[in-house]
Amino acid sequence: MNWVLLFALILFLGFATTSSDLNYNYYRLPAALRPQKYHLNILTLLDNPEESRFNGTVKILIEVLDNTKNITLHSKDLIIDESQTTLTHVNSGEKKDNCVSSTAVNPAHDYYILNTCQELLPGNIYELNLYFSADLKTQLEGYYRSSYEDAVANETRWITITQFEPASARLAFPCFDEPNYKAPFVVTLGHHKKFTSLSNMPVKETKPHESLTDYVWTEFEESVPMSTYLVAYSINDFSHKPSTLPNGVPFRTWARPNAIDQCDYTAEFGPKVLQYYEELFGIKFPLPKIDQFAVPDFEYGAMENWGLVVYSETTLLVSETHSSLNSKMNVAGAVAHELAHQWFGNLVTMKWWTDLWLNEGFATYVASLGVAQIHPELDYLEMDFFQNLHTIFQRDAMESSHPISRPIQTVKEINENFDDISYEKGSSVIRMMHLFLGDETFRSGLKTYLRRYKYKNAEQDNLWESLTQAAHENDALPKNYEVKTIMDSWTLQTGYPVINVTRDYASGTAELTQARYLLNSDVSRSHHEGCWWVPLSYTTQAKLDFNNTSPEDWLECSKEGRSQPKTINNLPGADQWVIFNTKLSAPYKVNYDSQNWKLLIETLNSEHFESIHVVNRAQLIEDVFSLAWTGEQDYETALGVMEYLHRERELLPLRAAFEKLTTLRRLVRRTPNFGYYKRYINKLIAPLYQELNGINDTFGSIQSQNVLLLKTELVDFACMTQVSDCVSRSKDYFREWRSVANPDETNPVPIEVRGTVYCTAIKHGSDEDWEFLWTRYLKTNVAADRDTILLSLTCTQNERLLQRQLDMIFDPKGDIRMQDAAATFDSVAANGEGWLLAKKYLVENLDHIYKYFYPVTASLAQLLPSLSDKVNTRQDYNEFKDFLDSSWEYLKDIKQAVQQTKENMLISVQWQERNYQQFFRAIRQKLNEVDEK
Ligand code: BES
Ligand code: ZN
Repeated sequence: MNWVLLFALILFLGFATTSSDLNYNYYRLPAALRPQKYHLNILTLLDNPEESRFNGTVKILIEVLDNTKNITLHSKDLIIDESQTTLTHVNSGEKKDNCVSSTAVNPAHDYYILNTCQELLPGNIYELNLYFSADLKTQLEGYYRSSYEDAVANETRWITITQFEPASARLAFPCFDEPNYKAPFVVTLGHHKKFTSLSNMPVKETKPHESLTDYVWTEFEESVPMSTYLVAYSINDFSHKPSTLPNGVPFRTWARPNAIDQCDYTAEFGPKVLQYYEELFGIKFPLPKIDQFAVPDFEYGAMENWGLVVYSETTLLVSETHSSLNSKMNVAGAVAHELAHQWFGNLVTMKWWTDLWLNEGFATYVASLGVAQIHPELDYLEMDFFQNLHTIFQRDAMESSHPISRPIQTVKEINENFDDISYEKGSSVIRMMHLFLGDETFRSGLKTYLRRYKYKNAEQDNLWESLTQAAHENDALPKNYEVKTIMDSWTLQTGYPVINVTRDYASGTAELTQARYLLNSDVSRSHHEGCWWVPLSYTTQAKLDFNNTSPEDWLECSKEGRSQPKTINNLPGADQWVIFNTKLSAPYKVNYDSQNWKLLIETLNSEHFESIHVVNRAQLIEDVFSLAWTGEQDYETALGVMEYLHRERELLPLRAAFEKLTTLRRLVRRTPNFGYYKRYINKLIAPLYQELNGINDTFGSIQSQNVLLLKTELVDFACMTQVSDCVSRSKDYFREWRSVANPDETNPVPIEVRGTVYCTAIKHGSDEDWEFLWTRYLKTNVAADRDTILLSLTCTQNERLLQRQLDMIFDPKGDIRMQDAAATFDSVAANGEGWLLAKKYLVENLDHIYKYFYPVTASLAQLLPSLSDKVNTRQDYNEFKDFLDSSWEYLKDIKQAVQQTKENMLISVQWQERNYQQFFRAIRQKLNEVDEK
């Protein structure tokens, strides 16, 4: 070994040991310092893709709040050239050098610690200059590179982009990487002059690089104070489309040149929704410009960087000739979500990741208001909140769930917090609050909150306070009620309740109690503790007042958190039903006594079924199937509710039914009774299938978007269970496509059902069909289309082809991008034939897969649910559980996903043991009844 190297190694080891002794080891930065401003210069060297790097300097002005002898920052994977570090005292105009006596690192928390020669005293300002460099990342976090193929030049083009949330700014520059350290940023990017550079703010000036030929420095204007996770920049050769909405800030949409014509939709939608938010929140968008950027490789759907919002291509681009209504709605939802963050998240930020839901729950909820406003033809609000509730009714019924607001320490815990609970449950409880406070109070409370905390940080108590104040001003809540008391029961507590309604028909009263709804029946009933403040809205068969969603009464909790039963008076007699939770205004389920269910079933199965509001029809299906799952109802009652569906023509109740039936299909697919299930489905949906003209291309003549979506979903469900001519017509369409001269230009398959047709044709098709579709995958220029094709290929029943696809998924040099790996694997695992192969693949290749994604954990966590969905025997359960337990080394960063996976398997097994026979008894009985008629 070279002597110099050995010397360096000894120094390094010595340094490492002393550093661990001295180490500051708390998970939050010390509170002695506060960054006042950052000047960040980044020179990006992209000329040689094999060695793409960046060099940076950061100048941080730091205010001292408390005596300290060190500066502790975040820095990860950066090489810091300590010979150039300077620390200067900059008060009162004169500069005086301090010095750094030593440095240390604490890798557990990504700390870089500079010990100072002299103590730093409160009230003083220091200027710290750090020089650093690193490789551009190939994983999709920090400052990384992405690429696309330039078809004309037949070349790969490289670009760069950042992804910093939640804790990856530290991978790109040393900084105080916690959301509460807000500061203005002055970003300057050095790059070859052939590239464009973008950042949060508009360009201030561009000047030639002092030494590198053809390189320039682009300096951006100083930003408003913001958290590090919102900083963004990019070097690229993309095209852009400016929006033209008058009076707004300049708004541009960016994509690779070949996809620029897919930017029209979002270039128009984005500014409209931004304008709506300005009115809703009463605060103008505070930056002088906004860009939205579609990057070919992106870990997430989208990221709300202030003024430079980044999306995966599928999430931003819309092609008139390839995008279905569903994919357009997803795009609208995503743009509305990220733009909502410009206020909820960017302007007012959570103090710490514990309250991430204030960002994500709000953006999710407000986005639904935004899309509904711009697309009134879509019934978007109802669709969105029903979907959210459906998700959390399942997810939050697990013991492995957690409260919306919970303690967070490590980066992996922060990552795990981006889940259905923060998003969907967060959004659902905000909607509940909107409904019980009323629109005016809700809006005025929010405005106060945003004004009070703008450019600052907040926690949930701050929100409760603003809303309580508005509620009391407007008499929207009784004076002895506080928003905090009510909402803490939803945000600090795991789960949600079932309300049991037991009516006394003689006295016209009902007794209401609550208990947590839990799927796992091994947990004894006495564990169903907890109490929620439940707003009670209800209506009766005579009143039919579904539009009144403000609470008539409340289920309350005692100071000790125990639930107080409630008696409701003045209810009708034994010939009339009551329904609680009108329009599903709060996230709870309702169970009734058998007489009330009987009355409801009678109305549903009569001409008057539409007298029950469409959302509550969907609710009845959702609730009764959940109750049957746990044995709180029986499947006869559940199928009794479902029976009216042959009359139903509205999307939500049918969607609820399709979802419940698809879950059950998963459980019974490989059992001897599956034939009964298929017959039952056929009887249930064949009439509607005929009426909507099946899979035939009548989409052009459908006026209502709801019917269009209904037809799409019905066809998908029908093909899955081989109803009517669904399979044969799909094969016809596909054959037709195969026979056209230029299949990449001409596609006779109706856009809305392409996913269904491709999947069905591949499932029942040949090797040649698969090869044909794979070629289309390689050639398409539309990201959403590429996704649809990639997932449809996994529908094959041919094990060799499935194996081939599995082998391609985790190949860094292959044709499947890392961002698509988890979804593709999931899709193979969801396939009846693919499940065993996928499981075997995971077991044998976990080490490789782990390294492929490392250190990003989101994708790894996504591999488990589909595998566990298919487990439904004790033996499979035990096997998979053993595998998970023995693979702890790889799975320790995704603890939450592993726990959910285990519980998910367990509840499927319990269903088999408890409900299988009963379910088929009920199905056979229904089939006999129908046959007799
Ligand atoms: N802030 C998130 C992006 C994010 C997610 C960062 C996870 C770090 C970890 C962004 O606002 C978001 O919620 N994106 C969603 C899509 C959105 C349309 C719901 C996503 O990427 O899944
Ligand atoms: Zn978000």
